[in-house]
Amino acid sequence: MYRVSNLSQAGLGLKTGVLLWLLWLLLLPLETVADTKQPKGMPSTMVLNPAAELWRDVRQRDMPISGTTQVKGVDSGVLINANGDKWRKFRMQQLIPIGGFLLLGILVGLAVFYMVRGKVKIVGGESDRKLPRYTSYERLIHWFMASIFLFLAITGLIILFGRPLLIPIFGKEIFSIIASASKEGHNLMGPLFMVALILVFVKFVRRNIYQKGDMSWLLRGGGIIGKKHVPSNFFNMGEKSMFWMLVLVGSVIVVSGLVLIFPVFGQSREWMELAHVGHAIGAILMIGVILGHIYIGSIGMEGAIDGMTTGYCDLNWAKEHHDLWATQMEKRGEAIANEEVNRFSDPDTNEYLGRELREADK
Ligand code: HEM
Repeated sequence: MYRVSNLSQAGLGLKTGVLLWLLWLLLLPLETVADTKQPKGMPSTMVLNPAAELWRDVRQRDMPISGTTQVKGVDSGVLINANGDKWRKFRMQQLIPIGGFLLLGILVGLAVFYMVRGKVKIVGGESDRKLPRYTSYERLIHWFMASIFLFLAITGLIILFGRPLLIPIFGKEIFSIIASASKEGHNLMGPLFMVALILVFVKFVRRNIYQKGDMSWLLRGGGIIGKKHVPSNFFNMGEKSMFWMLVLVGSVIVVSGLVLIFPVFGQSREWMELAHVGHAIGAILMIGVILGHIYIGSIGMEGAIDGMTTGYCDLNWAKEHHDLWATQMEKRGEAIANEEVNRFSDPDTNEYLGRELREADK
């Protein structure tokens, strides 16, 4: 009997204890809310970060919070890098939405331009003669650079915009494979872009130096504004500006890319954040300009791509778009009849072998 009453007393005590504990659990969040000041508009169901005060304080500082450590290494004494959060916010709230709309805007702009203006035709029609425009080496380095750039652009865009765009289509599992493959591929091929950039720079720089008359090409919008013919040399003002943008912005992309791939040269996290911002802004600008280049070099203009694929361009096309160069070439007797170009071209590579055959015949 004694034992039973003892047990029931113990049971009562346990129940009271559990009740008190539950009451304390219920009151605890109220106390935390009172402590950390629930921000306006935050749903009451959201769990508050118990370290909210600390993070608010950290965000107000511009300097990283440092301590001392025995570990030797860059940033190893930094306990909290307040700028890391600023960088993350910039990436998520500015870079991704603004960059995305910019690229989308350029694509829509080009589509509208194509619908309004249509393909720029060779006004005089195709001629019966051609001019040699690019050697096989020049075409090789152009397509080498173009394929590397396109690969880097696609993988880079997946890394930057993939989460919001591809997860709804492929799901998280497949996207994680696509994203990590893109990252590895991007890092592996990145340094090759530097090689391509140097090769293209060395080969094309002389023809891209600005000359007298380039400004009038720009003022007349390259012939798009008005119907008058605009004089131009081997490259016009637009191509030259694209070239210099490629060299300058391309160098920023290459240097910042190397800072990001090889974090072994003593660069701090803040330098890497800066390198990332420069890399991403540079790449978005360059992809935008290159979209315009691809448009005008393919569907936008009749006859433009021939030089870069066969090495030869139509004489009338050259006269309409690069007249100073075309007149010089014609005077030097470089214009070759279409049949001759076709007859003496290598069937596999499309390379015109006529000149060598004629030399050999002599
Ligand atoms: C697949 C897309 C591309 C197409 C269809 C294309 C087409 C062309 C064409 C037709 C030309 C010759 C224009 C002329 O003879 O006046 C050219 C030149 C050139 N392209 Fe591309 N291209 C492409 C991608 C790229 C990319 C991705 C880059 C660089 C990242 C690039 C850089 C250049 C450069 C530097 C020139 C010489 C222009 C100059 O030096 O001013 N191209 N391209």
